[in-house]
Amino acid sequence: MAIDNNNNNNNNNNNNNNNNNNNNNTGEIHNRAGFGGSIPVDNVQALALEYPKNVPVRYIRTEIESEEILYDESLRIPAIDISKLMVVGEAGYDDELAKLHVACRDWGFFQLVNHGISESKDAMKKVTEEFFKLPLEEKMKCAQLPNTIEGYGQAFVVSDEQKLDWGDMLFILPLPIQQRNLRFWPQIPISFRKTLDEYSNKLYGVSMKLFKLISINLGIKSESGDKVFKNYSQGIRMNYYPPCLEARKVLGLAPHSDATGLTLLVQVNEVQGLQIKKNSKWVPIKPIPGSIIVNIGDVLEIMSNGEYKSIEHRAVVDFEKERLSIAAFHTPGLETMIGPLPELVKEKAPNYKTIDAPEYLKLVISSKLDGKCLIDHMKIQ
Ligand code: OGA
Ligand code: NI
Repeated sequence: MAIDNNNNNNNNNNNNNNNNNNNNNTGEIHNRAGFGGSIPVDNVQALALEYPKNVPVRYIRTEIESEEILYDESLRIPAIDISKLMVVGEAGYDDELAKLHVACRDWGFFQLVNHGISESKDAMKKVTEEFFKLPLEEKMKCAQLPNTIEGYGQAFVVSDEQKLDWGDMLFILPLPIQQRNLRFWPQIPISFRKTLDEYSNKLYGVSMKLFKLISINLGIKSESGDKVFKNYSQGIRMNYYPPCLEARKVLGLAPHSDATGLTLLVQVNEVQGLQIKKNSKWVPIKPIPGSIIVNIGDVLEIMSNGEYKSIEHRAVVDFEKERLSIAAFHTPGLETMIGPLPELVKEKAPNYKTIDAPEYLKLVISSKLDGKCLIDHMKIQ
């Protein structure tokens, strides 16, 4: 499930109106409904045309102007060649697996090359661009509903005072398949649904492979790994960040860590904007063309008992060009216990609490509402 843990309270994912429309009812928590929705706010793509200058004050973030950004070409997130990790014992396998471990442990972010899903990814990029080019009226056919997070709209807004992100998104929960709600799946462009279905499937394969490799690196037995990753859910968020003449005063996506397990992100066009927090500074990420950026989310931090950490990141916007990205979040299913995996706390004390997945989801929402960091709630002091 795709949930972000956003300290600034304005970013959310979770929830699903399933096909039976079991919404608005906390009793239906196992159907992922009832986790709250967003206060409707303006469509930013339309707003950007109306206000090329003098951006409304709700988008202006004074605090960011003084923050340090580190433009250091030598600081690159590691690249992992997943084609070397297909067959155990093949040339390069052990080295690449060790590299993956270091990337997860020391960076929490890496870029995946030779992933073998370029065709599907490029098709997904194309339909995403086409979708955001549609007239507002057409896009609104997939609009978020009250108390849902799926659909076309803006990130989670909980108060009339909070600062807003300079971006719109289309958020869909493709997996598990039984809980798909096609209501939010665009029908234009006509190939959208088929393309998303295929992309979801391919990403599922890649993320599953990554979870397995990570399990090996962490020393998790395959049975307990399989239990965790069985029935896991996937959320795909297509982000659209319009250009802004006051780009240095707004944020496309406020600082957050992904509350989920593993995120696979692609940039749709050549416009950069992702920044990660490293040694208290913001580091802009320039991905290798064609790569997929992967990052560790809070669930994986908890399950690894802190061996791997979720990293804070944000998206900035460009002065002249629109920026688009597609983030796919992967998380264990709702029947899973969220806590350090048993193998990892045999000799060491657990650093995090263990709770069930529905309770974890509630925590995600409440930490959002009171502005505290989710990981702090889960840490054993
Ligand atoms: C996200 C995210 C970054 C980007 O969607 O959670 O971090 O570059 N996106 O759009
Ligand atoms: Ni994120």
